Amino acid sequence: MPRLGEAMQVMVNTNENINGTLVLPLWQDSKNMVSGSESGVPRSLKNQIETVLVDGDFKCKSGSAMTLAGTEGGKALLIGLGKEKDATLQSMREAGAKVTSSLKKIHGKTLTVKFHGLEDSHMAAFVEGMILRDYSYDHYKAKDEESDDSEITAHVTCEVEKNETLAKAAEISSAVATGVYLARDLGNAPPNDMYPMAFAEQAREFGREHDNVDVKIINYDEARSLGMGGLVGVGMGSFRKPCMVIFEINGDKPGPSPCIVGKGITFDTGGISIKPSPSMDEMKYDMHGSATTFGLMQALVASGHKDRVIGVTCMAENMPSSNAQRPGDVITTYSGKTVEVLNTDAEGRLVLSDGLWYTGTELDPSYIIDLATLTGACVVALGHEASGLWSNNDELLNNIKEAGEHCGEIAWPMPLFKAFEKEMTDSKIADVRNLGAGRYGGSNTAAAFLKQFIPNMGDSDEQIPWAHLDIAGTAWGAKSNKMVKTGATGIHVRTLHHLITGQ
Ligand code: BES
Ligand code: ZN
Ligand code: ZN
Repeated sequence: MPRLGEAMQVMVNTNENINGTLVLPLWQDSKNMVSGSESGVPRSLKNQIETVLVDGDFKCKSGSAMTLAGTEGGKALLIGLGKEKDATLQSMREAGAKVTSSLKKIHGKTLTVKFHGLEDSHMAAFVEGMILRDYSYDHYKAKDEESDDSEITAHVTCEVEKNETLAKAAEISSAVATGVYLARDLGNAPPNDMYPMAFAEQAREFGREHDNVDVKIINYDEARSLGMGGLVGVGMGSFRKPCMVIFEINGDKPGPSPCIVGKGITFDTGGISIKPSPSMDEMKYDMHGSATTFGLMQALVASGHKDRVIGVTCMAENMPSSNAQRPGDVITTYSGKTVEVLNTDAEGRLVLSDGLWYTGTELDPSYIIDLATLTGACVVALGHEASGLWSNNDELLNNIKEAGEHCGEIAWPMPLFKAFEKEMTDSKIADVRNLGAGRYGGSNTAAAFLKQFIPNMGDSDEQIPWAHLDIAGTAWGAKSNKMVKTGATGIHVRTLHHLITGQ
């Protein structure tokens, strides 16, 4: 599936010209334009701006915007930043996103954002928000002859001495956004077109396009002969067979590297333990873990990352059919451990069991992070505000939590109690069961299941550092996520890019 839509073009200018609509970010209760920021603004426009500020018609509250278009001096879009003392990276990102979401025909396709007196990190976050919100998925819509879907060009100006830093930050944000966009495209793609081998083909193409990227595909037959009973068991009920995709970036750089593993169920009907029909269409997003993994690879390549990073995606379509696995089946996973499949709708953990063991034993990880739209229980626990975060390693957990906070993509710590592991390993007839004993703590028992498939480091009896992100509540449908209009969010592409690169 071709990638459409490019990130908004952002240019940090050194001159004070205003091209197109003036975008003016203002702290709450501003009564005039910040002194020094007026240069280049035509007098009539400046007067109009100051009139609405003095009269209190625009109070510059956070989340607010006002368009002024009545003068010969051009048009302006005023953006409220809220109170200066309450400003955070996320509030600045949201203010930037408000620019994009406010744009109408009247604003045209060219903007000039005029910053003055703002911190570097605040300006950078504002620009990042503008870019992230500039995405819509319209591949399947007829093109309207009338509508102009050309890109937006945003010129940005600030004090001369802050120019270079801002330009660098905007460049990184634009690069990373290509990965976020790709993750959203993959997530939003309809499941008749986005099936396991379609994802794999797109990955293969990505590998061909970049010299420093290798893509390997383990197809259905290979998965069967390798003994990947989890991936095969879930995927065999569909005509569209499962596969595993392994991305390697900068494979010539030696040493243990970060490995990211994604759940890629291109459609989850539940299988024989079939789901109820309302909202079942949303299960096209059940591959968002793999979408984030692929998106991260794109973000790393675009931002010029130089070290080795691995992505592994476990792709399958979970369908009921005469060839589907049944509740009651016992499968042998790639690890050699057997699993009693008590519910075919708990399929994400089955495909991941093979992906995690393969990653741990074959790919030389420094740590493993998996991402999965794994449980409805995680949405019950955290709503759409945070992904659940489990880890066998406190340092890794804290690093991911901090990276998430920095990026405004919250990952909230959840427990890996021994009791949950016990619950998942007391099958009467197999090593592990894929369903908890009761319905409580469902996201924790799922994480405890995954932990059974993390190999130890070398000959030690300590597991490889591993973390699990349950993104069931954050991958789509979060109304509070101001960075997206609708659909797939591309969640955690930025978190992981920041974690891995520090950028
Ligand atoms: N893909 C679902 C989880 C899900 C549900 C994500 C709703 C987002 C929104 C997963 O495969 C699943 O069906 N999990 C079951 C597990 C249960 C059978 C133990 C669930 O959460 O009900
Ligand atoms: Zn399921
Ligand atoms: Zn699922």
